[in-house]
Amino acid sequence: MRMYDIIAKKRDGKKLDNKDIAFFINGYIKEQIPDYQASAFLMAAFLNGLDDDETVHLTKVMASSGDMADLRELGTVADKHSTGGVADTTTLIVVPLVCACGLKVAKMSGRGLGHTGGTLDKLESIPGMSVSLEMNAFMSQVKRIGGAVIGQTMNMCPADKMLYALRDVTATVESIPLIASSIMSKKLASGSNIIMLDVKTGSGAFMTDPDNAQKLANTMVRIGNMAGRKTAAIISDMSQPLGLAVGNSLEVIEAIDVLSGRIQGDLLTVSLSLASRMLCLANIAKNDEDANAMLLEALHSKRALHKFGEIITAQGGNTNVIHDTSLMPHARIISTLHAKSEGILTATDCKRIGEAAGMLGAGRLKKDDIIDPAVGFIIKKRIGDTVKYGDELFEVHANDENKIEEAMKYLEKCITLTNSAKSPTLIYGLVSSCG
Ligand code: URA
Ligand code: CA
Repeated sequence: MRMYDIIAKKRDGKKLDNKDIAFFINGYIKEQIPDYQASAFLMAAFLNGLDDDETVHLTKVMASSGDMADLRELGTVADKHSTGGVADTTTLIVVPLVCACGLKVAKMSGRGLGHTGGTLDKLESIPGMSVSLEMNAFMSQVKRIGGAVIGQTMNMCPADKMLYALRDVTATVESIPLIASSIMSKKLASGSNIIMLDVKTGSGAFMTDPDNAQKLANTMVRIGNMAGRKTAAIISDMSQPLGLAVGNSLEVIEAIDVLSGRIQGDLLTVSLSLASRMLCLANIAKNDEDANAMLLEALHSKRALHKFGEIITAQGGNTNVIHDTSLMPHARIISTLHAKSEGILTATDCKRIGEAAGMLGAGRLKKDDIIDPAVGFIIKKRIGDTVKYGDELFEVHANDENKIEEAMKYLEKCITLTNSAKSPTLIYGLVSSCG
Protein backbone atom coordinates (compact mmCIF):
# COMPACT_ATOMS: atom_id res chain seq x y z
CA MET A 1 0.00 0.00 0.00
CA ARG A 2 1.23 3.50 -0.85
CA MET A 3 0.12 6.82 0.66
CA TYR A 4 0.26 8.25 -2.88
CA ASP A 5 -2.61 5.97 -3.98
CA ILE A 6 -4.74 6.84 -0.93
CA ILE A 7 -4.33 10.57 -1.64
CA ALA A 8 -5.22 10.00 -5.32
CA LYS A 9 -8.30 7.97 -4.35
CA LYS A 10 -9.66 10.78 -2.17
CA ARG A 11 -8.64 13.41 -4.73
CA ASP A 12 -10.77 11.57 -7.32
CA GLY A 13 -13.76 11.43 -4.96
CA LYS A 14 -13.65 7.69 -4.38
CA LYS A 15 -14.55 5.98 -1.13
CA LEU A 16 -11.69 4.94 1.16
CA ASP A 17 -11.85 1.55 2.80
CA ASN A 18 -10.89 0.84 6.41
CA LYS A 19 -7.42 -0.36 5.44
CA ASP A 20 -6.62 2.92 3.66
CA ILE A 21 -7.57 4.95 6.72
CA ALA A 22 -5.66 2.72 9.15
CA PHE A 23 -2.59 2.82 6.88
CA PHE A 24 -2.66 6.63 6.83
CA ILE A 25 -3.17 7.17 10.60
CA ASN A 26 -0.79 4.46 11.76
CA GLY A 27 1.87 5.54 9.30
CA TYR A 28 1.48 9.19 10.20
CA ILE A 29 1.85 8.74 13.96
CA LYS A 30 4.95 6.61 13.40
CA GLU A 31 6.29 9.45 11.22
CA GLN A 32 6.55 7.06 8.26
CA ILE A 33 4.19 9.32 6.32
CA PRO A 34 5.52 12.89 5.97
CA ASP A 35 3.54 16.06 6.71
CA TYR A 36 3.34 16.97 3.01
CA GLN A 37 1.47 13.77 2.17
CA ALA A 38 -0.75 14.09 5.24
CA SER A 39 -1.49 17.70 4.21
CA ALA A 40 -2.45 16.65 0.69
CA PHE A 41 -4.71 13.97 2.13
CA LEU A 42 -6.39 16.45 4.51
CA MET A 43 -7.05 18.89 1.66
CA ALA A 44 -8.52 16.12 -0.51
CA ALA A 45 -10.76 15.07 2.41
CA PHE A 46 -11.66 18.70 3.03
CA LEU A 47 -12.70 19.25 -0.59
CA ASN A 48 -14.36 15.90 -1.35
CA GLY A 49 -15.68 15.05 2.12
CA LEU A 50 -15.78 11.77 3.99
CA ASP A 51 -18.96 9.70 4.23
CA ASP A 52 -20.29 8.19 7.48
CA ASP A 53 -18.36 4.93 7.13
CA GLU A 54 -15.10 6.74 6.42
CA THR A 55 -15.68 9.23 9.24
CA VAL A 56 -16.54 6.54 11.80
CA HIS A 57 -13.50 4.52 10.85
CA LEU A 58 -11.20 7.55 10.96
CA THR A 59 -12.59 8.38 14.43
CA LYS A 60 -12.04 4.87 15.75
CA VAL A 61 -8.49 4.61 14.41
CA MET A 62 -7.60 8.03 15.87
CA ALA A 63 -9.18 7.05 19.22
CA SER A 64 -7.01 3.94 19.41
CA SER A 65 -3.82 5.76 18.36
CA GLY A 66 -2.99 6.25 22.07
CA ASP A 67 -4.23 5.21 25.51
CA MET A 68 -7.93 4.52 25.96
CA ALA A 69 -9.54 4.88 29.39
CA ASP A 70 -11.17 1.66 30.52
CA LEU A 71 -14.15 2.72 32.63
CA ARG A 72 -16.09 -0.57 32.34
CA GLU A 73 -16.01 -1.27 36.07
CA LEU A 74 -17.99 1.95 36.62
CA GLY A 75 -20.98 0.63 34.65
CA THR A 76 -23.05 3.37 33.04
CA VAL A 77 -20.99 6.55 33.01
CA ALA A 78 -21.55 9.79 31.15
CA ASP A 79 -19.46 12.51 29.57
CA LYS A 80 -20.54 15.89 28.28
CA HIS A 81 -18.77 18.08 25.76
CA SER A 82 -19.27 21.61 24.53
CA THR A 83 -17.72 22.73 21.26
CA GLY A 84 -16.69 25.85 23.17
CA GLY A 85 -17.92 29.31 23.90
CA VAL A 86 -17.91 32.30 26.22
CA ALA A 87 -19.40 32.17 29.76
CA ASP A 88 -20.25 28.54 29.05
CA THR A 89 -20.15 27.17 32.59
CA THR A 90 -22.63 24.35 31.98
CA THR A 91 -20.21 21.59 33.06
CA LEU A 92 -20.01 22.99 36.61
CA ILE A 93 -23.82 22.86 36.81
CA VAL A 94 -24.64 19.74 34.79
CA VAL A 95 -22.14 17.41 36.50
CA PRO A 96 -23.43 17.94 40.07
CA LEU A 97 -27.06 18.00 38.85
CA VAL A 98 -26.96 14.63 37.11
CA CYS A 99 -24.75 13.09 39.83
CA ALA A 100 -27.36 14.14 42.39
CA CYS A 101 -29.88 12.17 40.27
CA GLY A 102 -27.74 9.01 40.32
CA LEU A 103 -25.85 9.28 37.02
CA LYS A 104 -22.08 8.87 37.21
CA VAL A 105 -19.92 11.37 35.31
CA ALA A 106 -16.24 10.81 34.54
CA LYS A 107 -15.24 13.97 32.75
CA MET A 108 -11.91 14.88 31.26
CA SER A 109 -11.93 18.57 30.40
CA GLY A 110 -9.70 21.02 28.62
CA ARG A 111 -8.11 24.38 29.30
CA GLY A 112 -9.14 27.67 27.78
CA LEU A 113 -7.49 28.74 24.55
CA GLY A 114 -8.17 31.79 22.41
CA HIS A 115 -11.52 33.41 23.17
CA THR A 116 -13.11 30.41 24.88
CA GLY A 117 -12.81 29.50 28.55
CA GLY A 118 -11.81 26.10 29.89
CA THR A 119 -13.41 24.09 32.67
CA LEU A 120 -10.05 23.14 34.21
CA ASP A 121 -9.01 26.79 34.62
CA LYS A 122 -12.36 27.59 36.22
CA LEU A 123 -12.10 24.70 38.70
CA GLU A 124 -8.51 25.61 39.58
CA SER A 125 -9.69 29.06 40.67
CA ILE A 126 -11.33 27.34 43.67
CA PRO A 127 -8.73 27.54 46.49
CA GLY A 128 -6.90 24.21 46.82
CA MET A 129 -8.74 22.43 44.02
CA SER A 130 -6.70 20.04 41.89
CA VAL A 131 -7.63 18.75 38.44
CA SER A 132 -4.66 16.44 38.03
CA LEU A 133 -5.70 13.09 39.43
CA GLU A 134 -4.16 9.75 38.59
CA MET A 135 -6.45 7.35 36.76
CA ASN A 136 -6.98 5.18 39.89
CA ALA A 137 -7.92 8.15 42.06
CA PHE A 138 -10.22 9.42 39.28
CA MET A 139 -12.03 6.05 39.05
CA SER A 140 -12.39 5.63 42.80
CA GLN A 141 -13.74 9.17 43.19
CA VAL A 142 -16.40 8.49 40.53
CA LYS A 143 -17.28 5.22 42.30
CA ARG A 144 -17.47 6.88 45.72
CA ILE A 145 -19.30 10.15 45.02
CA GLY A 146 -20.50 9.77 41.43
CA GLY A 147 -18.43 12.42 39.70
CA ALA A 148 -15.00 13.81 38.93
CA VAL A 149 -13.69 16.44 36.52
CA ILE A 150 -10.01 16.26 35.63
CA GLY A 151 -7.51 17.06 32.88
CA GLN A 152 -6.31 14.31 30.58
CA THR A 153 -3.79 12.16 32.40
CA MET A 154 -2.95 9.61 29.77
CA ASN A 155 -1.50 9.92 26.30
CA MET A 156 -4.83 10.12 24.48
CA CYS A 157 -5.36 10.54 20.74
CA PRO A 158 -1.84 11.48 19.64
CA ALA A 159 -3.08 11.17 16.03
CA ASP A 160 -5.59 13.94 16.66
CA LYS A 161 -2.98 16.16 18.30
CA MET A 162 -0.69 15.80 15.28
CA LEU A 163 -3.43 16.19 12.69
CA TYR A 164 -5.06 19.13 14.44
CA ALA A 165 -1.76 21.02 14.45
CA LEU A 166 -1.36 20.25 10.74
CA ARG A 167 -4.95 21.30 9.91
CA ASP A 168 -4.38 24.55 11.76
CA VAL A 169 -1.64 25.57 9.31
CA THR A 170 -3.07 24.06 6.10
CA ALA A 171 -6.54 25.72 6.12
CA THR A 172 -8.29 22.39 6.69
CA VAL A 173 -9.89 22.95 10.10
CA GLU A 174 -13.42 23.89 8.96
CA SER A 175 -14.52 20.52 7.62
CA ILE A 176 -17.46 18.81 9.30
CA PRO A 177 -16.14 15.21 9.04
CA LEU A 178 -12.65 16.31 10.19
CA ILE A 179 -14.01 18.29 13.16
CA ALA A 180 -16.46 15.51 14.05
CA SER A 181 -13.79 12.80 13.98
CA SER A 182 -11.37 15.00 15.96
CA ILE A 183 -13.84 15.69 18.76
CA MET A 184 -15.38 12.21 18.82
CA SER A 185 -12.02 10.39 18.81
CA LYS A 186 -11.25 12.10 22.13
CA LYS A 187 -14.70 11.22 23.48
CA LEU A 188 -14.29 7.56 22.51
CA ALA A 189 -10.84 7.44 24.13
CA SER A 190 -12.17 8.97 27.38
CA GLY A 191 -14.22 5.82 27.86
CA SER A 192 -17.74 6.93 28.82
CA ASN A 193 -20.65 5.01 27.33
CA ILE A 194 -22.98 8.03 27.30
CA ILE A 195 -21.88 11.13 25.40
CA MET A 196 -23.85 14.37 25.57
CA LEU A 197 -22.77 17.06 23.11
CA ASP A 198 -23.51 20.78 23.15
CA VAL A 199 -22.78 22.18 19.70
CA LYS A 200 -22.61 25.95 19.82
CA THR A 201 -23.57 28.32 17.05
CA GLY A 202 -23.31 32.10 16.64
CA SER A 203 -20.65 34.82 16.74
CA GLY A 204 -18.78 33.24 19.68
CA ALA A 205 -18.81 29.69 18.31
CA PHE A 206 -16.62 27.67 16.08
CA MET A 207 -19.61 27.04 13.78
CA THR A 208 -21.15 30.47 13.32
CA ASP A 209 -23.96 29.22 11.08
CA PRO A 210 -26.81 27.17 12.68
CA ASP A 211 -27.22 24.89 9.63
CA ASN A 212 -23.57 23.87 9.80
CA ALA A 213 -23.83 23.39 13.57
CA GLN A 214 -26.82 21.12 12.96
CA LYS A 215 -24.83 19.11 10.37
CA LEU A 216 -21.89 18.80 12.77
CA ALA A 217 -24.21 17.64 15.55
CA ASN A 218 -25.87 15.06 13.27
CA THR A 219 -22.48 13.71 12.18
CA MET A 220 -21.10 13.46 15.73
CA VAL A 221 -24.23 11.73 17.03
CA ARG A 222 -24.10 9.21 14.16
CA ILE A 223 -20.40 8.51 14.86
CA GLY A 224 -21.04 8.03 18.59
CA ASN A 225 -23.93 5.67 18.05
CA MET A 226 -22.14 3.71 15.30
CA ALA A 227 -19.20 3.32 17.69
CA GLY A 228 -21.52 1.82 20.31
CA ARG A 229 -21.89 4.83 22.62
CA LYS A 230 -25.27 6.35 23.43
CA THR A 231 -24.88 9.82 22.00
CA ALA A 232 -27.13 12.88 21.77
CA ALA A 233 -26.62 16.57 21.04
CA ILE A 234 -28.24 19.92 21.41
CA ILE A 235 -27.48 22.89 19.18
CA SER A 236 -27.41 26.02 21.33
CA ASP A 237 -26.84 29.72 20.93
CA MET A 238 -23.45 31.41 21.29
CA SER A 239 -24.33 34.72 19.64
CA GLN A 240 -23.86 36.20 23.11
CA PRO A 241 -22.13 34.82 26.21
CA LEU A 242 -24.29 32.12 27.79
CA GLY A 243 -23.99 33.29 31.39
CA LEU A 244 -23.49 36.78 32.77
CA ALA A 245 -20.01 36.17 34.20
CA VAL A 246 -16.87 35.91 32.05
CA GLY A 247 -13.63 34.96 33.83
CA ASN A 248 -12.65 31.94 35.88
CA SER A 249 -13.51 32.77 39.50
CA LEU A 250 -16.50 34.87 38.41
CA GLU A 251 -17.89 31.92 36.42
CA VAL A 252 -17.49 29.54 39.36
CA ILE A 253 -19.35 32.05 41.55
CA GLU A 254 -22.12 32.21 38.93
CA ALA A 255 -22.35 28.40 38.83
CA ILE A 256 -22.65 28.37 42.64
CA ASP A 257 -25.37 31.04 42.41
CA VAL A 258 -27.27 28.90 39.89
CA LEU A 259 -26.92 25.74 42.01
CA SER A 260 -28.03 27.73 45.08
CA GLY A 261 -31.21 28.80 43.24
CA ARG A 262 -30.24 32.50 43.42
CA ILE A 263 -30.19 33.02 39.66
CA GLN A 264 -31.96 31.51 36.67
CA GLY A 265 -31.63 32.45 33.01
CA ASP A 266 -30.08 30.98 29.88
CA LEU A 267 -27.18 29.25 31.65
CA LEU A 268 -29.61 27.24 33.78
CA THR A 269 -31.93 26.55 30.82
CA VAL A 270 -29.14 25.08 28.67
CA SER A 271 -27.75 23.14 31.67
CA LEU A 272 -31.16 21.59 32.37
CA SER A 273 -31.61 20.70 28.71
CA LEU A 274 -28.26 18.87 28.64
CA ALA A 275 -28.81 17.20 32.02
CA SER A 276 -32.31 16.08 31.10
CA ARG A 277 -31.11 14.36 27.91
CA MET A 278 -28.31 12.66 29.88
CA LEU A 279 -30.79 11.19 32.39
CA CYS A 280 -32.90 9.92 29.47
CA LEU A 281 -29.90 8.34 27.68
CA ALA A 282 -28.99 6.58 30.95
CA ASN A 283 -32.59 5.34 31.38
CA ILE A 284 -32.70 7.05 34.76
CA ALA A 285 -35.63 9.12 33.50
CA LYS A 286 -38.42 7.86 31.23
CA ASN A 287 -38.82 11.13 29.33
CA ASP A 288 -37.97 14.83 29.45
CA GLU A 289 -40.81 15.64 31.81
CA ASP A 290 -39.69 12.98 34.25
CA ALA A 291 -36.06 14.11 33.93
CA ASN A 292 -36.93 17.75 34.53
CA ALA A 293 -38.88 16.91 37.67
CA MET A 294 -35.89 14.96 39.03
CA LEU A 295 -33.45 17.75 38.15
CA LEU A 296 -35.57 20.51 39.67
CA GLU A 297 -35.88 18.49 42.86
CA ALA A 298 -32.08 18.10 42.99
CA LEU A 299 -31.73 21.84 42.43
CA HIS A 300 -34.37 23.08 44.88
CA SER A 301 -33.37 20.68 47.65
CA LYS A 302 -29.73 21.90 47.20
CA ARG A 303 -28.63 18.28 46.71
CA ALA A 304 -26.87 19.35 43.48
CA LEU A 305 -25.09 22.19 45.29
CA HIS A 306 -23.91 19.76 47.96
CA LYS A 307 -22.78 17.32 45.29
CA PHE A 308 -20.63 20.10 43.85
CA GLY A 309 -19.24 20.60 47.37
CA GLU A 310 -18.40 16.88 47.61
CA ILE A 311 -16.55 16.99 44.28
CA ILE A 312 -14.60 20.06 45.45
CA THR A 313 -13.65 18.34 48.73
CA ALA A 314 -12.63 15.13 46.98
CA GLN A 315 -10.28 17.11 44.71
CA GLY A 316 -8.68 19.02 47.58
CA GLY A 317 -10.61 22.29 47.27
CA ASN A 318 -12.15 24.51 49.93
CA THR A 319 -15.77 23.35 49.96
CA ASN A 320 -16.87 26.37 52.02
CA VAL A 321 -16.98 28.35 48.76
CA ILE A 322 -20.40 26.85 48.04
CA HIS A 323 -21.83 28.77 51.02
CA ASP A 324 -19.51 31.77 50.98
CA THR A 325 -18.33 32.92 47.55
CA SER A 326 -16.23 35.69 49.13
CA LEU A 327 -13.68 32.87 49.65
CA MET A 328 -13.13 32.79 45.86
CA PRO A 329 -10.35 34.94 44.37
CA HIS A 330 -11.41 38.57 43.85
CA ALA A 331 -9.86 41.28 41.68
CA ARG A 332 -8.44 44.49 43.16
CA ILE A 333 -10.21 46.94 40.85
CA ILE A 334 -13.87 46.96 39.85
CA SER A 335 -14.85 49.51 37.23
CA THR A 336 -18.06 49.95 35.27
CA LEU A 337 -18.48 50.62 31.56
CA HIS A 338 -21.50 52.87 30.95
CA ALA A 339 -23.47 53.30 27.73
CA LYS A 340 -22.58 56.36 25.66
CA SER A 341 -25.58 55.97 23.34
CA GLU A 342 -29.09 54.52 23.43
CA GLY A 343 -31.12 51.84 21.71
CA ILE A 344 -31.97 48.18 21.85
CA LEU A 345 -29.10 45.75 22.16
CA THR A 346 -29.39 43.91 18.84
CA ALA A 347 -26.18 41.91 18.58
CA THR A 348 -22.95 41.15 20.38
CA ASP A 349 -19.63 40.14 18.93
CA CYS A 350 -19.34 37.22 21.30
CA LYS A 351 -15.88 36.18 20.14
CA ARG A 352 -14.52 39.67 20.89
CA ILE A 353 -16.17 39.62 24.32
CA GLY A 354 -14.22 36.44 25.02
CA GLU A 355 -11.06 38.11 23.72
CA ALA A 356 -11.63 41.09 26.04
CA ALA A 357 -11.54 38.69 29.01
CA GLY A 358 -8.25 37.40 27.60
CA MET A 359 -6.86 40.96 27.57
CA LEU A 360 -7.58 41.28 31.29
CA GLY A 361 -5.60 38.08 31.86
CA ALA A 362 -8.48 35.57 32.14
CA GLY A 363 -7.39 33.53 29.12
CA ARG A 364 -4.44 32.41 27.09
CA LEU A 365 -3.17 33.38 23.68
CA LYS A 366 -0.45 30.73 23.85
CA LYS A 367 -0.68 27.35 25.56
CA ASP A 368 1.79 28.24 28.34
CA ASP A 369 0.45 31.73 29.21
CA ILE A 370 -0.35 32.16 32.92
CA ILE A 371 -3.90 33.22 33.71
CA ASP A 372 -5.28 35.41 36.49
CA PRO A 373 -8.24 33.56 38.08
CA ALA A 374 -9.84 36.68 39.54
CA VAL A 375 -10.25 38.90 36.49
CA GLY A 376 -13.09 39.17 33.99
CA PHE A 377 -16.41 40.97 33.89
CA ILE A 378 -20.10 40.78 34.60
CA ILE A 379 -22.46 41.46 31.69
CA LYS A 380 -25.29 43.83 32.57
CA LYS A 381 -27.32 43.85 29.33
CA ARG A 382 -28.38 41.02 27.05
CA ILE A 383 -29.64 40.96 23.47
CA GLY A 384 -33.15 42.39 23.37
CA ASP A 385 -32.61 44.71 26.37
CA THR A 386 -33.23 48.44 26.10
CA VAL A 387 -30.13 50.53 26.80
CA LYS A 388 -30.45 54.11 28.06
CA TYR A 389 -27.61 56.64 28.08
CA GLY A 390 -25.45 55.99 31.14
CA ASP A 391 -26.75 52.46 31.79
CA GLU A 392 -24.24 49.91 33.07
CA LEU A 393 -23.04 47.63 30.27
CA PHE A 394 -20.14 45.72 31.84
CA GLU A 395 -18.71 45.56 35.36
CA VAL A 396 -15.02 44.95 34.78
CA HIS A 397 -12.88 43.12 37.38
CA ALA A 398 -9.15 43.68 36.92
CA ASN A 399 -5.81 43.71 38.66
CA ASP A 400 -4.09 46.15 36.30
CA GLU A 401 -5.28 49.72 35.51
CA ASN A 402 -3.77 49.70 32.02
CA LYS A 403 -5.50 46.50 31.05
CA ILE A 404 -8.88 47.86 32.22
CA GLU A 405 -8.81 50.69 29.70
CA GLU A 406 -7.73 48.48 26.86
CA ALA A 407 -10.44 45.91 27.64
CA MET A 408 -13.15 48.56 28.02
CA LYS A 409 -12.31 50.11 24.65
CA TYR A 410 -12.57 46.67 23.11
CA LEU A 411 -15.81 45.79 24.94
CA GLU A 412 -17.45 49.00 23.76
CA LYS A 413 -17.10 47.80 20.18
CA CYS A 414 -18.64 44.42 21.00
CA ILE A 415 -22.24 45.52 21.20
CA THR A 416 -24.59 46.88 18.55
CA LEU A 417 -27.51 49.14 19.45
CA THR A 418 -30.35 49.73 16.95
CA ASN A 419 -34.05 50.51 17.31
CA SER A 420 -35.43 47.04 16.76
CA ALA A 421 -34.47 43.64 18.07
CA LYS A 422 -35.45 40.11 18.62
CA SER A 423 -33.86 37.76 21.10
CA PRO A 424 -31.89 34.87 19.61
CA THR A 425 -33.21 31.32 19.78
CA LEU A 426 -31.49 29.68 22.75
CA ILE A 427 -31.77 26.04 21.74
CA TYR A 428 -31.98 25.43 17.99
CA GLY A 429 -32.51 21.73 18.10
CA LEU A 430 -31.88 18.32 19.57
CA VAL A 431 -30.42 15.31 17.88
CA SER A 432 -31.66 11.93 19.16
CA SER A 433 -34.54 12.35 21.52
CA CYS A 434 -35.66 10.07 24.30
CA GLY A 435 -39.03 8.38 24.53
N1 URA B 1 -12.22 21.00 18.37
C1 URA B 1 -11.55 19.86 18.21
O1 URA B 1 -11.23 19.17 19.16
N2 URA B 1 -11.23 19.48 16.96
C2 URA B 1 -11.59 20.20 15.87
O2 URA B 1 -11.28 19.78 14.76
C3 URA B 1 -12.27 21.38 16.06
C4 URA B 1 -12.58 21.77 17.34
CA1 CA C 1 -14.33 23.50 26.71
